[in-house]
Amino acid sequence: QTPFRGSVTLDGPSGTGKSTVARGVAARLGAAYLDTGAMYRAATVAVLDSGVDPADAEAVARTVAEAGIVVGTEAGTERVEVGGADVATRIRGAEVTRAVSAVSAVPAVRRQLVAQQRALVAGAEAVVVEGRDIGTVVLPDATLKVYLTAAPEVRAQRRAGQLGVTDAAEIAALAVDLRRRDEYDSSRADSPLRPAADAVVVDSSDLSQAQVVDRIVLLAETAVPAG
Ligand code: DC
Repeated sequence: QTPFRGSVTLDGPSGTGKSTVARGVAARLGAAYLDTGAMYRAATVAVLDSGVDPADAEAVARTVAEAGIVVGTEAGTERVEVGGADVATRIRGAEVTRAVSAVSAVPAVRRQLVAQQRALVAGAEAVVVEGRDIGTVVLPDATLKVYLTAAPEVRAQRRAGQLGVTDAAEIAALAVDLRRRDEYDSSRADSPLRPAADAVVVDSSDLSQAQVVDRIVLLAETAVPAG
């Protein structure tokens, strides 16, 4: 078995187990790993801390450009910094999660972060990149494109498990929030969430995360590198 070379894109909505799967695939392939959602979350930290109006696209873009966003590319560790400060924990908090869709919908923010993503990927022989628009926009010539989905109820249940939520009303609220974010992400004008024409769609509703990892690793090992 020759080692995998090339890029695997993993796109899809939240709550599909995408991050765990992406890290698992990267570890199995001996590849680097880039979490682009973490970059949009780091940008959101910068916007929240700057006090600029999130609706002021120009001010938001300027703030993000000057923020000094650093994201690591190792599957085993998570490194996320804004202006030298470690924000790896904070980017997962409710405040950031609420505001991130608005920040990631600003075209100038996307342009900056997409350029940064391409530069990070260019240095890697093998890489797994996770996000929403990786197969469609960031890496259109990727070796393998995967679009990971799952039924909304399954996704809300998984999210609840991660957060330790057991109350039925709270789980229902999570499902509402998931749907609202999906709709927002799928309907935005710039880089909407959708599978690339040449993506393999994997529905994880009835699969364990280990099964999803196995399937993607097999697809990657049999994929022909582009170029
Ligand atoms: O995957 P995540 O939940 O960490 O993503 C956070 C937000 O960033 C989510 O609202 C979608 C957005 N995002 C995006 O627009 N493009 C990407 N490539 C990755 C994430």
